[in-house]
Amino acid sequence: MNAKERKYKLALVGATGVVGKVARDVLEEKNLPISEYVFFSSAKSAGKKIIFQEKEYTVRELKEDSFDEGFDFAIFSAGGETSKKFAPIAASKGCVVVDNSSAWRMDKDVPLVVPEVNSEEIKKNHGIIANPNCSTIQAVVPLKVLDDKYKIKRVVYSTYQAVSGAGIKGIRDLEDGANTDYKLQKFAHPIINNCLPHIDVFLDNGYTKEEEKMINETRKILNRPNLPVTATTVRVPVINSHSESINVEFENKFDMDELIELLKNSKGIIVQDNPASSVYPLATEASGHDEVFVGRIRRDYSIENGINMWVVADNLRKGAASNAIQIVEKMIDEKS
Ligand SMILES: NC(=O)c1ccc[n+]([C@@H]2O[C@H](COP(=O)([O-])OP(=O)(O)OC[C@H]3O[C@@H](n4cnc5c(N)ncnc54)[C@H](OP(=O)(O)O)[C@@H]3O)[C@@H](O)[C@H]2O)c1
Repeated sequence: MNAKERKYKLALVGATGVVGKVARDVLEEKNLPISEYVFFSSAKSAGKKIIFQEKEYTVRELKEDSFDEGFDFAIFSAGGETSKKFAPIAASKGCVVVDNSSAWRMDKDVPLVVPEVNSEEIKKNHGIIANPNCSTIQAVVPLKVLDDKYKIKRVVYSTYQAVSGAGIKGIRDLEDGANTDYKLQKFAHPIINNCLPHIDVFLDNGYTKEEEKMINETRKILNRPNLPVTATTVRVPVINSHSESINVEFENKFDMDELIELLKNSKGIIVQDNPASSVYPLATEASGHDEVFVGRIRRDYSIENGINMWVVADNLRKGAASNAIQIVEKMIDEKS
């Protein structure tokens, strides 16, 4: 059999979760040369039936011997603890894991990949490739293009993140939170009518872990280990798609029209920027798409060379499932 005819076997770990469901949808849309799929969950959902590509599958409980049967690829979306334990087991059996959790992202031997930005890192993997945090993925797609051309001096993130980023419990807190006897499952305070400047846990330095992830992952992906980056990450009462205000300072002078043209011509980016007609990226419109939407692009007059921009993307697709599947797709392309 030549490489082009080869069919692969893929495991989806966390197949019953919010990201897992979107991953199934994206895999159905893409129709990759994968002949065998196995869907894993914890004991809780094991035995559930899933219809995928018009076939019925039974969800299996993930166990230590689950990878003994041999897989080419596994996409993990089942939390950090599951990834820490099971990704090395899968890798030791010859499977390449693309991991959605934060467990492996800052490991120096694990590539942290956004295909539009640093797909050349994929081949450096030792069996585990990390998918970055959802809020980082959408930010680095435009930042890479701008860094290559104008050299970024500093980045300031302020995020407005959807509840789907907190999994099924986050969605419940928004959808059911208005019921009088509802007990919050995910957030420290009601998300209805509130913006919560609190995503993940607080660290000793006053930042949240989400903010620290954005800072460290941006540096790693852009290969700018000392880049000054700061972040304030906020959960807002939006079901899906994260919005971000990004302030960028450059080393070099730039022409505004040229900068916008550059973004317009970049892979994976859609510029929506016509304020006179109220056209700018919106969470409702980004949902269901894999591109990163950029608008409100304007000069920051408080510094010599800087801009502000508004960046929106579907956190479950580009921020998680689609990015992971694009990585698998790249690996398949490279084998053929
Ligand atoms: N939501 C996002 O926007 C987003 C973005 C990027 C990355 N992520 C990451 O993706 C992961 C999943 O997030 P989510 O939002 O999809 O969460 P979720 O809706 O809570 O789903 C969790 C999934 O993991 C499975 N699981 C839990 N413990 C397991 C175990 N011990 N073994 C096997 N499977 C287990 C669950 O199975 P059961 O049905 O049996 O409980 C379920 O399928 C997390 O690491 C999260 O940080 C999420």
